[in-house]
Amino acid sequence: MRNIVKVGDETLRKISKPVKNFDEGLWTLLDDMKETMRKNNGMGLAAPQVGVLKRVIVVEVNGNYFELINPEIVASSGKDYDEEACLSVTGVQEKVWRPMKVTVKAQDRYGYDIKISGEKYLARCFCHEIDHLNGILFIDYLKDNK
Ligand code: NI
Repeated sequence: MRNIVKVGDETLRKISKPVKNFDEGLWTLLDDMKETMRKNNGMGLAAPQVGVLKRVIVVEVNGNYFELINPEIVASSGKDYDEEACLSVTGVQEKVWRPMKVTVKAQDRYGYDIKISGEKYLARCFCHEIDHLNGILFIDYLKDNK
C-alpha cells in the first residue's frame, strides 16, 4: 500500500513518462496501486497519485479490473454527465462531462498490446485516470474550481 498524493502537490501537475521496461519494478508498482485503490475504495488510480511519474493506470468498475500501461484514447463518442471523485481530491464529488464511450489502446504488464472499449462509468474512469498522466484533474473541468 502506498501513500496517495493530494491536490496541491506539484507531482499531480506533471506529465508522466512512457513505460519502456516491463519488469518486476512495474509489476510491484501495479500490485501496490491495485491494493492502494481497493483499500481506499477507489475505482481507479494513476501512478502519479502514488508519486510515480510513469504512464500506468489501474481501473476497477463493477468488479472488472484493468491494468493499462501507456494508455491512449484512440476513439471516443457520445457525451455523458455524471458524478466524479478522486482519491487525490478529498471531499469533492461533482458532475463533469465525459465521452459516453471510449476505446483505449495500451499495453498489459508484460508489454503486449491491448485494446479495450468502455461505456459510461468505465469510459469515465479511463478518461479520468489518463488525464492524471497529463497533469489534469477532474476539478479543472469545474467552472468555479477553487
Ligand atoms: Ni483521480
